[in-house]
Amino acid sequence: MNVAQYIETVVDRFDSAELHYGHGTENSFDEAVYLVYGVLGIDYETSIDVANRILTSDEHSKLDEKVEKRISQRIPVAYLLNEAWFAGFKFFSDSRALVPRSPIAELIQSNFQSLLLTKPNTVLDLCCGGGCIGISTAKHYESVQVDLADFDPAALGLALSNINLHDVGSRVKIIQSDLFSAIYSNYDLILCNPPYVSAQEYKILPDEFKQEPAIGLVCGDDGLALPVRILREAANYLAHEGMLIMEVGHSAKLLAQRFESVPFLWLEFNRGGSGVLALSQQQLQQYSGEFN
Ligand SMILES: C[S@@+](CC[C@H](N)C(=O)[O-])C[C@H]1O[C@@H](n2cnc3c(N)ncnc32)[C@H](O)[C@@H]1O
Repeated sequence: MNVAQYIETVVDRFDSAELHYGHGTENSFDEAVYLVYGVLGIDYETSIDVANRILTSDEHSKLDEKVEKRISQRIPVAYLLNEAWFAGFKFFSDSRALVPRSPIAELIQSNFQSLLLTKPNTVLDLCCGGGCIGISTAKHYESVQVDLADFDPAALGLALSNINLHDVGSRVKIIQSDLFSAIYSNYDLILCNPPYVSAQEYKILPDEFKQEPAIGLVCGDDGLALPVRILREAANYLAHEGMLIMEVGHSAKLLAQRFESVPFLWLEFNRGGSGVLALSQQQLQQYSGEFN
């Protein structure tokens, strides 16, 4: 069987298993290609004529094993391959942190649209998980200093592996911190993808999400406990011209309703995704009373 034929069989199996997509791909074909190319070590961009390549029996059985795990255990492909792509960079990925998928990737690649007046010198990636947001920012801006902060030591272990993978240890540091409790600096930019799923929503999420650490997803009864704490405290950790960019996903509606007077800037994305807000240090300070 050749690669294209094998991918077709995987698509059929994924379709009948009614998998959930959203950890890097959006449909069964893309998911099958991601898995098959990943297992075979095929480069998406440089490989031509891959489709007709005949699979060896060894490759076939390796692929079968991963496909079976994807279906029977609902393990996201990134965890099966131990790698994920974010903002054009490859990262180690495993169940110590969420599979990278934040639309903040597009912001990094577009120089943060026109939100920043100048290049940031210092960036905090708060709730960093495996560090994809902060490390991609460090790769994008050659001289920026980045701190990666997370409460979970396991996630920080993965972040450290990613710092080493990208050889950015001289500019990127990890800090174990409950939000800002162990942060003692001011930053030009705080990027943050905190947990924002309500306990109720979490219960009905597809099984794929249950493979990820719950601490990275669930956040109290309404999903807003940590985002609101971040809004309350962030001004104290930003330079005067600094900016907070934070993802709150589906909780955006509730947040905007609860704080009607706050002029959240909701960012738009060409590659999909929503629920990412931007507020300047001055706005955060001006409206800090609202978040109490
Ligand atoms: C949605 S994940 C984001 C991971 C990564 N930034 C990304 O975009 O893929 C949220 C992260 O917040 C961390 N977290 C949860 N509660 C926290 C807290 N109180 N302080 C700091 N980090 C926390 C979790 O450990 C998890 O790694």
